[in-house]
Amino acid sequence: MAINFYDSIPSLFLLWLKKKQYRIKIKITVHVADFNNEDIIMKIIVTGGAGFIGSNFIFYEMKAHPEDTIICIDSLTYAGNLSTLEPVMKNDHFRFYRTDIRDRDAIYRIFEDEKPDIVVNFAAESHVDRSIENPTIFLETNIIGTSVLMDACRKYGIRRYHQVSTDEVYGDLPLDRPDLFFHEDTPIHTSSPYSTSKASADLLVMAYHRTYGLPVTISRCSNNYGPYQFPEKLIPLMIANALADKPLPVYGEGKNVRDWLYVEDHCKAIDLIIRKAGDGETYNIGGHNEMANIDIVKLICDYLDKPYSLIKHVEDRKGHDQRYAIDPTKIHNDLGWLPETKFADGIKKTIQWYLDNKKWWEDIISGDYMNYYEKMYGNRKVLS
Ligand SMILES: NC(=O)c1ccc[n+]([C@@H]2O[C@H](COP(=O)([O-])OP(=O)(O)OC[C@H]3O[C@@H](n4cnc5c(N)ncnc54)[C@H](O)[C@@H]3O)[C@@H](O)[C@H]2O)c1
Repeated sequence: MAINFYDSIPSLFLLWLKKKQYRIKIKITVHVADFNNEDIIMKIIVTGGAGFIGSNFIFYEMKAHPEDTIICIDSLTYAGNLSTLEPVMKNDHFRFYRTDIRDRDAIYRIFEDEKPDIVVNFAAESHVDRSIENPTIFLETNIIGTSVLMDACRKYGIRRYHQVSTDEVYGDLPLDRPDLFFHEDTPIHTSSPYSTSKASADLLVMAYHRTYGLPVTISRCSNNYGPYQFPEKLIPLMIANALADKPLPVYGEGKNVRDWLYVEDHCKAIDLIIRKAGDGETYNIGGHNEMANIDIVKLICDYLDKPYSLIKHVEDRKGHDQRYAIDPTKIHNDLGWLPETKFADGIKKTIQWYLDNKKWWEDIISGDYMNYYEKMYGNRKVLS
């Protein structure tokens, strides 16, 4: 029912207001939790979609929301693999752009042509060891690239910019305090150039929200495992080496603890955030599944029936974080998310995937990657 505002105000009072030249401000409050992208057909830009989590996210989205269109932007660094996206390449609801997120002109052109509703930024240099060798590219891609994407969002308009971040921005926890967890308000306290570049990007995302009102969200996830992970990361590296009866290089005593999450559970969490979460929200995502690196390696040996004698303890990573542990209570309470895959099932599925898809990773383990591998592990002092 329409109400004539002025009818309700005595005319004498109006005269008095006019005389005093008072201005009346009407304040409208929008409740952020009411944000809802659920029932809308959307165009989603996924950057870094030829990498591990990005590709899994594309497969998840195209199955869960076949009416949406996915636009993948990836520059195909050593970690990007176009063959991964083969199953969706011919789908009418999918397009691929080989573009660097630092290339402002090219990114603006894509936004102008595609007019996306949502951007999910997975594109990043993601390997801690490489960041220790060469920090610069991490700063360029992870920070500058993020700012270019957000500038494009400001210029062309967006319903949501989502930044895929990591629990590593919180630094690490001591091994002897299993009662401690990372919460969303845990102070940022980074260790490596990688985590510092990711934390810087997070701060920039929140600055764009506050300064320009950009509708953003951030998710900070623990270690992922699953299909299509590049074989330089712990689990695929150990599977590939064990299958070839090669040494299994474990940093130090291997006691460092990580909280492992099956990649599809991470994808489901991001899907919920981009569709249901309020602007400016940050969510921790974790599996409540803490395991020491050495126990993971032994489990892989057991599954593949390989002897523990393959395990070689090598000189530790510089500044190696001891323990990561996420408290995912907020995303559970706000959005109803829970990890669905138990580690025992997820690791079996993952190992089986690497057994069934040898060509995918055997093609990768060649050329440049092997030179890098030799540099990282070939010259490292063997402790035992
Ligand atoms: N892997 C994990 O366990 C984990 C955990 C938490 C958060 N994350 C974050 O999730 C995101 C994805 O991680 P991932 O493991 O899939 O990484 P990945 O290294 O497997 O994939 C990164 C992708 O980004 C692309 N890329 C790199 N630089 C680019 C650039 N300048 N322009 C365009 N594309 C570029 C690469 O080609 C690759 O396809 C990263 O932001 C990472 O920080 C990863």
